Amino acid sequence: MSTIIVRTPVTAGLGELFSTHGLSKKVVMLFDENTRKLYGDELLKTLTDQGFQWKELVVPAREASKSFSTAYRLYGRMIEADVDRSWNMLAVGGGVVGDLGGFIAASYYRGIPVIQLPTTLLAMTDSSIGGKVAINHPLGKNMIGFFHLPKLVLIDPSYLKTLPEREIYAGMAEVIKYGFIADEAFLSFLDLNFKAITELQEPWLTEAVKKSAFIKDDVVTKDFRETSGLRATLNFGHTFAHGLEKLAEYRYLRHGEAVTIGMVCALFLSHNLEYLDRASLERGLSILKKFRFPKGVLKLRFLDIESELLLENMFSDKKKLDKKLRFVLLKTLGEAFLLEENVDNKPVLKAIDDARIFFSGKRLH
Ligand SMILES: NC(=O)c1ccc[n+]([C@@H]2O[C@H](COP(=O)([O-])OP(=O)(O)OC[C@H]3O[C@@H](n4cnc5c(N)ncnc54)[C@H](O)[C@@H]3O)[C@@H](O)[C@H]2O)c1
Ligand SMILES: [Zn+2]
Repeated sequence: MSTIIVRTPVTAGLGELFSTHGLSKKVVMLFDENTRKLYGDELLKTLTDQGFQWKELVVPAREASKSFSTAYRLYGRMIEADVDRSWNMLAVGGGVVGDLGGFIAASYYRGIPVIQLPTTLLAMTDSSIGGKVAINHPLGKNMIGFFHLPKLVLIDPSYLKTLPEREIYAGMAEVIKYGFIADEAFLSFLDLNFKAITELQEPWLTEAVKKSAFIKDDVVTKDFRETSGLRATLNFGHTFAHGLEKLAEYRYLRHGEAVTIGMVCALFLSHNLEYLDRASLERGLSILKKFRFPKGVLKLRFLDIESELLLENMFSDKKKLDKKLRFVLLKTLGEAFLLEENVDNKPVLKAIDDARIFFSGKRLH
């Protein structure tokens, strides 16, 4: 749906690429403090060399930047700098910068084009693709936003060299998710090359990024506004994850870490409700066993949490319909579906308990 380009360096021939896509060579560059420091000078020089006109905006590198007050301040900076509808927004960073940049682009002058240049594994494989852009409200995460598809998604996996290991694993959770929900062969590839990918070795890294980005784009193309249930399968593991993130105050657990735990719960739930066979469950778990968490995080943010408390917090999932929890389950490895009927609390609690046993390293039943 968007033009996605995966290569190193992705900025070579950018001017021409812009022309081909009917974009002017005028860009507002949005960075966070980290991406500005790491990649700003080099990127701005490339733009100048290629005849671009640019202005730059920098926000603090934290989730709190996805706020209305930040957006409001940046609108002001853009108006003062005479940025009009002929300009584009280019967001350079992780999901925070991508979501904020997309939000501003969707609303400024009733909408200007956004180009995403993701620099985290999560952003390259998930948040920069699909056009969901949002800011947070004190009453809920991602509550205010738009569907605003990027004109271009420029992915250069070499940017990941500076990304902390914790962020690599967090992004890898979404990558594995694509294997689980859509592509068994890809899941096997990820299983086989897990170490190489998380160590950022080529060509495995680029292959994993490319395939993930294209699976997400394909799902979004087929179900843009989440009407058929297909786009909802991207939320595999996420009903559990949202509860965990909420309990961790959206601070002490990375989204991807919550998704890793959530996928273990969802695998157990799929098996316990008799959709997924035992061998597939075991194989899925053996892949998720490879994920690492910083010391203490798993214990404090999951193992020590009462299953009932987690279940309660899952109900605040913004994707709930009435008082019903929506679960994405697996039929087989590589095929997910959105469960339409209501699930009793009992099997959900059992799945959480099973996941706790799995992560505490004890033998399964
Ligand atoms: N729009 C969507 O469809 C969608 C999907 C998933 C997540 N999200 C959103 O994405 C956000 C999370 O994104 P994220 O995980 O990328 O977090 P993030 O943007 O906070 O980035 C994580 C950290 O890595 C730093 N960083 C970024 N690139 C770097 C690099 N190359 N080298 C070193 N450090 C780098 C950032 O400065 C930040 O400190 C959340 O707000 C979430 O709601 C949106
Ligand atoms: Zn996610």
